[in-house]
Amino acid sequence: MDFYKVIRTRRSIRSFKPDPIPPDILERILDAARISPSGSNRQPWLFILVDDPDTKRKLAECCSRQMFIAEAPVVVVVCGFNIHYNRGGYMGDLSMLVDCSIATTHLILAARAEGVGSCWIGAFDNNCIKKLLGIPEDVNVVAVVPLGYPKGDAFVDVSVESRKSLTDIVRLNRFDGPGWSR
Ligand SMILES: Cc1cc2nc3c(=O)[nH]c(=O)nc-3n(C[C@H](O)[C@H](O)[C@H](O)COP(=O)(O)O)c2cc1C
Repeated sequence: MDFYKVIRTRRSIRSFKPDPIPPDILERILDAARISPSGSNRQPWLFILVDDPDTKRKLAECCSRQMFIAEAPVVVVVCGFNIHYNRGGYMGDLSMLVDCSIATTHLILAARAEGVGSCWIGAFDNNCIKKLLGIPEDVNVVAVVPLGYPKGDAFVDVSVESRKSLTDIVRLNRFDGPGWSR
Protein backbone atom coordinates (compact mmCIF):
# COMPACT_ATOMS: atom_id res chain seq x y z
CA MET A 1 0.00 0.00 0.00
CA ASP A 2 1.22 3.50 -0.85
CA PHE A 3 2.85 5.12 2.19
CA TYR A 4 0.71 8.26 2.02
CA LYS A 5 -2.43 6.17 1.78
CA VAL A 6 -1.33 4.35 4.93
CA ILE A 7 -0.88 7.55 6.91
CA ARG A 8 -4.05 9.20 5.57
CA THR A 9 -6.27 6.23 6.38
CA ARG A 10 -4.79 5.23 9.71
CA ARG A 11 -7.61 5.97 12.09
CA SER A 12 -8.23 5.17 15.73
CA ILE A 13 -10.31 2.00 15.70
CA ARG A 14 -12.55 1.45 18.71
CA SER A 15 -14.67 -1.50 17.61
CA PHE A 16 -13.15 -4.86 16.66
CA LYS A 17 -14.23 -8.17 15.18
CA PRO A 18 -13.13 -11.19 17.24
CA ASP A 19 -11.19 -12.67 14.29
CA PRO A 20 -7.57 -13.41 15.23
CA ILE A 21 -4.68 -11.76 13.41
CA PRO A 22 -2.75 -14.43 11.45
CA PRO A 23 0.70 -14.97 13.02
CA ASP A 24 2.63 -13.94 9.89
CA ILE A 25 0.77 -10.62 9.78
CA LEU A 26 1.26 -10.03 13.50
CA GLU A 27 4.95 -10.78 13.09
CA ARG A 28 5.33 -8.19 10.31
CA ILE A 29 3.58 -5.57 12.44
CA LEU A 30 5.81 -6.30 15.45
CA ASP A 31 8.88 -6.34 13.22
CA ALA A 32 8.06 -2.82 12.04
CA ALA A 33 8.30 -1.74 15.68
CA ARG A 34 11.47 -3.76 16.21
CA ILE A 35 13.39 -2.02 13.43
CA SER A 36 12.40 1.52 14.38
CA PRO A 37 15.15 4.02 15.23
CA SER A 38 16.12 4.92 18.79
CA GLY A 39 18.62 7.23 20.48
CA SER A 40 22.08 5.61 20.35
CA ASN A 41 20.23 2.53 19.05
CA ARG A 42 19.38 1.62 22.67
CA GLN A 43 16.02 0.02 21.76
CA PRO A 44 14.67 0.56 25.28
CA TRP A 45 11.41 -1.31 24.71
CA LEU A 46 9.59 -4.53 25.32
CA PHE A 47 6.21 -5.41 23.85
CA ILE A 48 3.81 -7.55 25.85
CA LEU A 49 1.07 -9.23 23.80
CA VAL A 50 -2.07 -9.82 25.80
CA ASP A 51 -4.59 -12.26 24.32
CA ASP A 52 -5.98 -13.90 27.44
CA PRO A 53 -9.63 -12.72 27.73
CA ASP A 54 -9.60 -12.20 31.50
CA THR A 55 -6.29 -10.32 31.40
CA LYS A 56 -7.57 -8.17 28.49
CA ARG A 57 -10.65 -7.25 30.52
CA LYS A 58 -8.53 -6.28 33.53
CA LEU A 59 -6.17 -4.38 31.23
CA ALA A 60 -9.10 -2.41 29.78
CA GLU A 61 -10.14 -1.56 33.35
CA CYS A 62 -6.63 -0.18 33.98
CA CYS A 63 -7.18 2.03 30.91
CA SER A 64 -9.91 4.22 32.41
CA ARG A 65 -12.37 1.37 31.78
CA GLN A 66 -12.16 1.77 27.99
CA MET A 67 -13.69 -1.67 27.59
CA PHE A 68 -13.50 -1.71 23.77
CA ILE A 69 -9.82 -2.54 24.29
CA ALA A 70 -10.81 -6.02 25.50
CA GLU A 71 -12.71 -6.63 22.22
CA ALA A 72 -9.47 -6.72 20.24
CA PRO A 73 -8.00 -10.19 19.72
CA VAL A 74 -4.62 -8.96 20.90
CA VAL A 75 -3.51 -5.94 22.88
CA VAL A 76 0.08 -4.71 22.75
CA VAL A 77 1.46 -3.12 25.90
CA VAL A 78 4.50 -1.04 25.00
CA CYS A 79 6.96 -0.99 27.91
CA GLY A 80 9.94 1.36 28.16
CA PHE A 81 13.12 0.74 30.14
CA ASN A 82 14.24 3.68 32.24
CA ILE A 83 17.70 3.72 30.73
CA HIS A 84 19.86 6.65 31.73
CA TYR A 85 20.98 8.21 28.51
CA ASN A 86 24.14 10.28 28.91
CA ARG A 87 24.88 11.46 25.41
CA GLY A 88 24.21 15.10 26.30
CA GLY A 89 21.26 17.21 25.33
CA TYR A 90 18.35 18.01 27.57
CA MET A 91 16.18 15.05 26.57
CA GLY A 92 17.85 12.76 29.10
CA ASP A 93 15.45 10.14 30.40
CA LEU A 94 12.68 11.57 28.19
CA SER A 95 14.46 9.83 25.31
CA MET A 96 12.85 6.55 26.35
CA LEU A 97 9.41 8.08 25.74
CA VAL A 98 10.51 9.39 22.35
CA ASP A 99 12.00 6.04 21.32
CA CYS A 100 8.99 4.02 22.45
CA SER A 101 6.63 6.48 20.76
CA ILE A 102 8.48 6.06 17.46
CA ALA A 103 8.26 2.27 17.79
CA THR A 104 4.55 2.53 18.58
CA THR A 105 4.04 4.73 15.53
CA HIS A 106 5.80 2.16 13.34
CA LEU A 107 3.55 -0.49 14.84
CA ILE A 108 0.26 1.29 14.20
CA LEU A 109 1.22 2.33 10.67
CA ALA A 110 2.34 -1.21 9.82
CA ALA A 111 -0.96 -2.47 11.24
CA ARG A 112 -2.84 -0.12 8.92
CA ALA A 113 -0.78 -1.28 5.94
CA GLU A 114 -1.83 -4.84 6.82
CA GLY A 115 -5.52 -3.89 7.11
CA VAL A 116 -5.39 -4.28 10.89
CA GLY A 117 -7.01 -1.61 13.06
CA SER A 118 -5.39 -0.07 16.12
CA CYS A 119 -5.92 2.66 18.65
CA TRP A 120 -3.13 4.35 20.59
CA ILE A 121 -4.26 4.33 24.22
CA GLY A 122 -2.63 6.91 26.46
CA ALA A 123 -5.25 7.02 29.22
CA PHE A 124 -4.04 4.27 31.53
CA ASP A 125 -2.93 3.72 35.09
CA ASN A 126 0.74 2.73 34.86
CA ASN A 127 0.83 1.05 38.29
CA CYS A 128 -2.39 -0.85 37.62
CA ILE A 129 -0.93 -2.35 34.41
CA LYS A 130 2.46 -2.98 35.99
CA LYS A 131 0.83 -4.96 38.80
CA LEU A 132 -1.43 -6.86 36.39
CA LEU A 133 1.36 -7.91 34.02
CA GLY A 134 4.28 -8.25 36.47
CA ILE A 135 6.25 -5.36 34.97
CA PRO A 136 9.36 -4.55 37.07
CA GLU A 137 9.91 -1.34 39.03
CA ASP A 138 12.34 0.32 36.57
CA VAL A 139 10.10 -0.26 33.55
CA ASN A 140 7.06 1.87 32.68
CA VAL A 141 4.15 1.53 30.31
CA VAL A 142 4.30 4.01 27.43
CA ALA A 143 1.31 2.97 25.35
CA VAL A 144 -1.39 0.35 25.06
CA VAL A 145 -2.47 -0.64 21.54
CA PRO A 146 -5.41 -2.94 20.83
CA LEU A 147 -5.02 -4.64 17.44
CA GLY A 148 -7.75 -6.30 15.40
CA TYR A 149 -9.91 -6.17 12.32
CA PRO A 150 -12.31 -3.23 12.48
CA LYS A 151 -16.05 -3.66 12.44
CA GLY A 152 -17.40 -1.88 9.36
CA ASP A 153 -15.51 0.35 6.96
CA ALA A 154 -13.34 2.19 9.45
CA PHE A 155 -10.26 3.15 7.45
CA VAL A 156 -11.70 6.43 6.24
CA ASP A 157 -9.41 9.28 5.26
CA VAL A 158 -8.42 11.59 8.09
CA SER A 159 -10.65 14.59 7.59
CA VAL A 160 -8.55 17.57 6.66
CA GLU A 161 -10.79 19.79 8.79
CA SER A 162 -9.95 17.82 11.92
CA ARG A 163 -6.30 18.89 11.70
CA LYS A 164 -4.56 22.25 11.96
CA SER A 165 -3.40 23.66 8.64
CA LEU A 166 0.24 23.71 7.50
CA THR A 167 0.32 27.49 7.69
CA ASP A 168 -0.79 27.26 11.32
CA ILE A 169 1.92 24.81 12.29
CA VAL A 170 4.93 25.57 10.05
CA ARG A 171 6.83 28.86 10.39
CA LEU A 172 9.68 30.22 8.33
CA ASN A 173 13.07 30.77 10.00
CA ARG A 174 11.77 31.89 13.41
CA PHE A 175 9.16 30.85 15.93
CA ASP A 176 7.35 34.10 15.20
CA GLY A 177 8.14 33.96 11.47
CA PRO A 178 5.49 33.88 8.75
CA GLY A 179 3.37 30.78 8.28
CA TRP A 180 4.91 28.64 5.55
CA SER A 181 3.21 27.91 2.27
CA ARG A 182 4.65 26.72 -1.01
C1 LIG B 1 -0.64 9.74 22.81
C2 LIG B 1 -2.06 9.37 22.41
C3 LIG B 1 -2.95 8.98 23.39
C4 LIG B 1 -4.26 8.59 23.04
N1 LIG B 1 -5.10 8.08 24.01
C5 LIG B 1 -6.31 7.61 23.64
C6 LIG B 1 -7.13 6.94 24.59
O1 LIG B 1 -6.78 6.74 25.75
N2 LIG B 1 -8.34 6.48 24.15
C7 LIG B 1 -8.78 6.63 22.88
O2 LIG B 1 -9.89 6.18 22.56
N3 LIG B 1 -8.01 7.27 21.95
C8 LIG B 1 -6.79 7.74 22.29
N4 LIG B 1 -5.97 8.32 21.36
C9 LIG B 1 -6.45 8.48 19.96
C10 LIG B 1 -6.74 9.96 19.62
O3 LIG B 1 -7.93 10.36 20.25
C11 LIG B 1 -6.84 10.08 18.09
O4 LIG B 1 -5.60 9.72 17.51
C12 LIG B 1 -7.19 11.48 17.61
O5 LIG B 1 -8.46 11.86 18.08
C13 LIG B 1 -7.20 11.58 16.08
O6 LIG B 1 -8.09 10.62 15.51
P1 LIG B 1 -7.57 9.50 14.49
O7 LIG B 1 -6.53 8.67 15.24
O8 LIG B 1 -8.77 8.67 14.15
O9 LIG B 1 -6.98 10.16 13.32
C14 LIG B 1 -4.68 8.68 21.69
C15 LIG B 1 -3.76 9.09 20.71
C16 LIG B 1 -2.47 9.41 21.05
C17 LIG B 1 -1.48 9.77 19.96
